[in-house]
Amino acid sequence: MCGIIGYVGKSEAVPILLDGLERLEYRGYDSAGVAVVSPESELRVVKTKGRLSVLREHLEQQDPLRGTIGIGHTRWATHGEPNDTNAHPHIGQDGKIAVVHNGIIENYLEIRELLERKGIIFQSETDTEVIAQLMEYYYRKLGNLMDAVYAVLGRIEGAYAMGILCKDFPGQMIAARKDAPLLIGYGEDGNYIASDVTALLRYTRTVTYMEDGEVAVLTADGVQIFDQDRTAIDKPRHTIEWDVSAAEKGGYAHFMLKEIMEQGEAVRKTISPRVHDGRVVIEELAGMEPYLQGLRKICIVACGSAYHVGMIGKYALERLLRIPVDAYLASEFRYSEPLLGDDTLVIVISQSGETLDSMAALREAKKRGSKVLSIVNVVGSSIARESDITLYTWAGPEIAVATTKAYTTQMALLILLGVYCAECNGKIDAEERKAILDEFDKLPEKIDGVLSDLKIYQEAAARYFNQDSVFFIGRNLDYALGLEGSLKLKEISYIHSESYAAGELKHGTISLIEPGTLVIALATYTPLIEKTRSNIVEVRARGADVIAVATEETAPYVKDQADELMILPKTHPLLQSVLGVLPLQLFAYYVALNRGCDIDKPRNLAKSVTVE
Ligand code: AGP
Repeated sequence: MCGIIGYVGKSEAVPILLDGLERLEYRGYDSAGVAVVSPESELRVVKTKGRLSVLREHLEQQDPLRGTIGIGHTRWATHGEPNDTNAHPHIGQDGKIAVVHNGIIENYLEIRELLERKGIIFQSETDTEVIAQLMEYYYRKLGNLMDAVYAVLGRIEGAYAMGILCKDFPGQMIAARKDAPLLIGYGEDGNYIASDVTALLRYTRTVTYMEDGEVAVLTADGVQIFDQDRTAIDKPRHTIEWDVSAAEKGGYAHFMLKEIMEQGEAVRKTISPRVHDGRVVIEELAGMEPYLQGLRKICIVACGSAYHVGMIGKYALERLLRIPVDAYLASEFRYSEPLLGDDTLVIVISQSGETLDSMAALREAKKRGSKVLSIVNVVGSSIARESDITLYTWAGPEIAVATTKAYTTQMALLILLGVYCAECNGKIDAEERKAILDEFDKLPEKIDGVLSDLKIYQEAAARYFNQDSVFFIGRNLDYALGLEGSLKLKEISYIHSESYAAGELKHGTISLIEPGTLVIALATYTPLIEKTRSNIVEVRARGADVIAVATEETAPYVKDQADELMILPKTHPLLQSVLGVLPLQLFAYYVALNRGCDIDKPRNLAKSVTVE
């Protein structure tokens, strides 16, 4: 995700900003920039698409940016393609205030339209420029910078960590934070802000973590922090013990574990901007109601884990829309002469947006007359650019090769899309829509609840990490879930695994079940729990060990048959898989850890498969 660095002190700012941004590169970004206020109160901004090396080249070609106060940013695009104009810092049209920002301003369009009606001309597509323009608007109107800052914070909705410079105050940097991390660093020759500690460790290990609603004013000589009522507050200072490599992973041992733990926030960021006043709002589909009402079929096309999201989508969207919905492996779909047309929507799902098989399937679909809607995590990626409609997951960059937060945000967004399409077609009543959206609202907290206690997954992994093979069984949505659980285990622990529709095992594969075989039974789908229980009994009768993943509601049906029982909070049946995958991710992670595997970079695998 985006990275922020800010400095005010006695040294030249630009070298410090660039060094800090380099240490934030691991977070993933597609553009970068810096802003500096010179001693003559000149505000200068240099920003470019691409890597930091491109920014450095631009800086070398300019008159040197002089000044001992500055802010820097690496951008992971959410609103607006990666390009020079959309890069941060953003400035208002008076050229007085520069802003860098992490997070998502959910009401940015409404504010932008209001400012445009007042004659303000925007340069970029970003939500961040709205902050800068609104701050200058209030600064002009109120005549006081802090009044303007608090007026902006009272007007915007969403998540933000921001650094602010104003040319009229060349010795002052302002920081504000809500739902996105931002910390203050206390150095010997100045003071800092950063989105994470990695950027600061070279200069200081003494930091303060800002909390929601707080505003900080930093100068070379000191820092003042105010709460949301503008009352000055004292905050504790902490000493960072981490080394740099640990800090890049936010203190986690691996990026995969960090990204597993980020899933609650990632789902919230992806879903909450698309639900307003109890309705699903998907701006990208505005005006397409007649097209959606005419749909006779949906084909979901993807690879790997994204295909497994498609399998979940098959069950969920068929139930919501009552039209045929099928999931296809992109590598098969593209050569299958698929029966498509303008009444068939093709949904392509891809974290990277660069998977060659998925891109080829997209082109085949368009050639055969279907519209393509893509669900993608990387803004401006090839699949996004060639789709008719693109819905972005806002999971932030996923560094680990084994996907986790992209998978869960894709699933959540696909089901939200299903609710939206069901509303367009009158297939969902207000009561069911409310039931689903209420559960969407609680989902991040339920995800965090499941992730708050890792002991059971660590113990199960310690017991079973030496298995030769593992079988996953489930029915309906649980079957689709098992596909992902099996892939997670295979790709990071190198243990052979298979996933089966529980009712299918007896048609041959059950011959492989013998004493000590591990079977992971997905038992969260209540309507078929008694059938699933029977299948668990069948494998236990042949000596299998069983790990059951159940909900509070289904656990009583399988408790007596499980060697390990992982119980999840209940949510709406269509959303249960978002929680159901968490134990599978963690089990795979801890098994791989016990086996000493290279968890973030498994052998033979690439994060984006751009070959056939
Ligand atoms: C996921 O854990 C795997 N690394 C892999 O299956 C991945 O899901 C697949 O390659 C598709 O990638 P994409 O989502 O970037 O298209």
